[in-house]
Amino acid sequence: MKFFVDTADVKEIRELNEIGLLDGVTTNPSLIMKSGRSIKEVTKEICDIVEGPVSAEVTALDFEGMMKEADILSKIADNICIKVPLTFDGLKACKAITGDGRKVNVTLCFSANQALLAAKAGATFISPFIGRLDDLAIDGMELIADIRTIYNNYGFQTEILAASIRTVNHVREAALIGADVATVPPATLKALVKHTLTDKGIEAFMADWAKTGQSIA
Ligand code: E4P
Repeated sequence: MKFFVDTADVKEIRELNEIGLLDGVTTNPSLIMKSGRSIKEVTKEICDIVEGPVSAEVTALDFEGMMKEADILSKIADNICIKVPLTFDGLKACKAITGDGRKVNVTLCFSANQALLAAKAGATFISPFIGRLDDLAIDGMELIADIRTIYNNYGFQTEILAASIRTVNHVREAALIGADVATVPPATLKALVKHTLTDKGIEAFMADWAKTGQSIA
């Protein structure tokens, strides 16, 4: 499973990338707002850090506006992936942008039928939002499973990018189902390393080590 980090916080991206954990980055207008920086400047900096695709979202809602913004965002760096919303105009833009060889992440997907349309429109990535469905007491993970089945049934190459991930269990379940990518907030990505037994084990080893009176360095 590939890991993208869901943030526009350059410090976090740099740290996670240095460990080799990152295959890409996703941003959205809310994350750009949180960064407090200009979209072009912060996106350029992210693209210079990470080799993989960096999703930058259009904000226009009509096809022409999306295409204009996609052209501007594409010029930021070669690893830009254009993010479009799952609307009729978004699908039109997806078809046109992928048609000339650029990557597209179709975002705000909440149903299997939407995902089917995105794949038919040539999406590179489909982003089903798990957490936001869970918030409504609808099983977000079931959507990931449905899309996996549909894409396998018809051999669609669109990658399933499990989004709106809120917990470490979301990551585990999405991986078990076979999502191609998980986009994870930095804190959740870091939490994947945690285990009480690891902490306890370290504590016991350190206590015994202290009794030896030795030091390695
Ligand atoms: C995906 O690309 C989105 O940026 C993101 O996963 C949304 O997550 P949220 O529902 O926690 O805002």
